[in-house]
Amino acid sequence: MKIYIIGSTGQLGSDILRIFEKKHKVVHGGKELFDVRNTDAFESFIGNKFDAVINCSAFLDVPLAENSVREAILMNMSAPMKIAHVCRKKNIRFIHFSTDYVFDGEKRTPYIETDKCNPLNIYGMSKYIGEEGILEVNPNASVLRVSGLYGRVVSRAKGYNFISLFLRKAKENDVIEVVSDEILTPTYTLNAAKQTLLVFENGISGIIHSTDEGEVSWFDFASEISRQMKLKIKVKRKKSSSNSIARPKYSVLENRKLNELGLNIMKDWRESLREFLKEEYI
Ligand SMILES: NC(=O)c1ccc[n+]([C@@H]2O[C@H](COP(=O)([O-])OP(=O)(O)OC[C@H]3O[C@@H](n4cnc5c(N)ncnc54)[C@H](OP(=O)(O)O)[C@@H]3O)[C@@H](O)[C@H]2O)c1
Repeated sequence: MKIYIIGSTGQLGSDILRIFEKKHKVVHGGKELFDVRNTDAFESFIGNKFDAVINCSAFLDVPLAENSVREAILMNMSAPMKIAHVCRKKNIRFIHFSTDYVFDGEKRTPYIETDKCNPLNIYGMSKYIGEEGILEVNPNASVLRVSGLYGRVVSRAKGYNFISLFLRKAKENDVIEVVSDEILTPTYTLNAAKQTLLVFENGISGIIHSTDEGEVSWFDFASEISRQMKLKIKVKRKKSSSNSIARPKYSVLENRKLNELGLNIMKDWRESLREFLKEEYI
């Protein structure tokens, strides 16, 4: 099949490219190839050349989104909605990614796909209305919720991911403080990409939770990185600041739909971390 991957220069997009190009013909790029904010031009850009579109682009700087509401909504709702609409019209499969930040974290047991969303910040809200809009105009679209991504390519938007930032700090400090009151499932982009291929091949539509397995605080995740890398630093727990942007304290997703379909290939977060560190750093 011929697939257009939007955002292939990014953290997730680069692994989506790595996995999909083994089996499919792909056209891919970042905003220099096609800027998704140019919503009116998408239909003519895409023409009749593709069987599927995978959108890995987003506005994902959480603090910046608080003061860039229009841009966040344009990137996370209007643009993907337009793409979803064009894909439906042309009978093209559409795959999109969303986030654990659609939830408020009050539940304290893993969220399933049908749980009520209640985002706490602008980024989460813009992703949530994006999900709703996409599935409204294109019920056959697949929207995979991922969380705490890390991979070989760091986030384009942020210039780092949790692991690269932690390892950078570890070179310069003996003690590193990490928040212990945000619990989630950090997810290796290579696993998410392999899972996306399976979702694509099996034609699964709607909201799909697709994170690594298990749950951990950022503090425990950092401690495990330190342990596996045999770092000679002290990781110290701290509470998230009450002045910073509201984030869910608990945003673990259960891959319920994938489990029910017998398609869940996501791995335990420790195993994924080990594989990633071995491939990249050890
Ligand atoms: N990162 C996380 O921890 C995390 C957690 C939960 C959910 N997610 C979701 O996962 C998805 C992928 O995130 P990521 O971390 O891989 O993002 P990323 O590394 O920042 O990559 C974003 C990609 O989007 C492209 N892009 C940005 N603006 C564009 C535009 N106007 N037109 C076309 N392309 C544009 C970028 O291309 P350029 O090279 O041209 O800038 C880049 O390839 C997003 O939907 C995000 O919301 C991420």
